[in-house]
Amino acid sequence: MTAKIIGIGAYAPEHIVTNRDLMEFLDTDDAWIRERTGICERRISTQEGTSALAAEAARRAVKDAGIRPEEIEIIIVATSSADRSFPSAATDVQGAIGADNAVAFDITAACSGFIYGLHIMQGFIQSGIYKTGLIIGAETLSKVLDWTDRSSCILFGDGAGAAVVQAAETGVIKTLVGSDGRKGDVLYCQARSLKNCITGGKPELGFMQMDGQEVFKFAVKKVPEIVTQILEETNTPGEEVQHYVLHQANTRILESASRRLKVPMEKIPVNIDRYGNTSAASIPILLEEMKRDGRLKPGDKLVMAGFGAGLTWGAALLTW
Ligand code: COA
Repeated sequence: MTAKIIGIGAYAPEHIVTNRDLMEFLDTDDAWIRERTGICERRISTQEGTSALAAEAARRAVKDAGIRPEEIEIIIVATSSADRSFPSAATDVQGAIGADNAVAFDITAACSGFIYGLHIMQGFIQSGIYKTGLIIGAETLSKVLDWTDRSSCILFGDGAGAAVVQAAETGVIKTLVGSDGRKGDVLYCQARSLKNCITGGKPELGFMQMDGQEVFKFAVKKVPEIVTQILEETNTPGEEVQHYVLHQANTRILESASRRLKVPMEKIPVNIDRYGNTSAASIPILLEEMKRDGRLKPGDKLVMAGFGAGLTWGAALLTW
């Protein structure tokens, strides 16, 4: 038995922020952002937190799967921007959708979170512990961005994507994940400091800090590497794969992967122009769009690959 995605849902907040909107308070330029990143606009949440976005994406995925929420045995939310330190966003989702029989918890693997979630879910399903699960990538990174730092804040957007997975004969063929904790300072967001009435001073919260060029160099190397690895380890010829669903961080990273892998851009779907980088949500948001517009067909083979803070990375090969 393996994990098969039987339902997919996505939800992004309504409020659109264009590059030109950013130019009103930031020394930046629409043409620069388009050329260097491929991003034209992103969604920014003004009302709903991460759990609300996650719950709506989950409702849509459950509806798409045609199951009842009570059938879900496990909920994993991948997020780096939960509304509260505890309880988890996953238990918020459980309560909101009435998945009363599920165990629910969050994972943090930054932008690789959805693939990590699928990897964990695959383990539970293969071992027979659970048969039906829900994986959600959900972020409101807008609240941890430094909106005065033009080299990072222009890149990200808010949103959520969810997948219902179930034990089946075909589906996930292989997942692989990895981490390099020595590179943790390349991209991070400080949580509460140790300041309190014992140590002195007021607690502080940090904002996202990023060495953009280091992340870029890592991504253009790592994405082709893990895609090649997963194809080789499963003896899958690249031509058999219809879609390379890659984390949406920068169009130039996608184009570089296309060149290095010798895969035409027609096989690498792009929606970063409308959403920016939604971190753990980017892959399921893209999958939902592809399913809705008929690009994803039953039996299609697809590779997903993501990378992010940690540093972390992950890939999955599956039959849709
Ligand atoms: N608007 C206008 N100019 C900007 C700008 C902005 N938003 N951000 C940076 N610049 C300027 C820089 O100040 C620099 O100016 P200078 O040459 O006068 O010093 C110039 O543009 C080039 O900056 P640089 O950092 O070399 O640009 P870049 O081509 O590396 O692009 C990123 C910057 C951030 C877009 C790119 O490095 C990137 O996408 N990195 C990966 C980040 C990522 O994906 N993070 C998430 C991982 S999950």
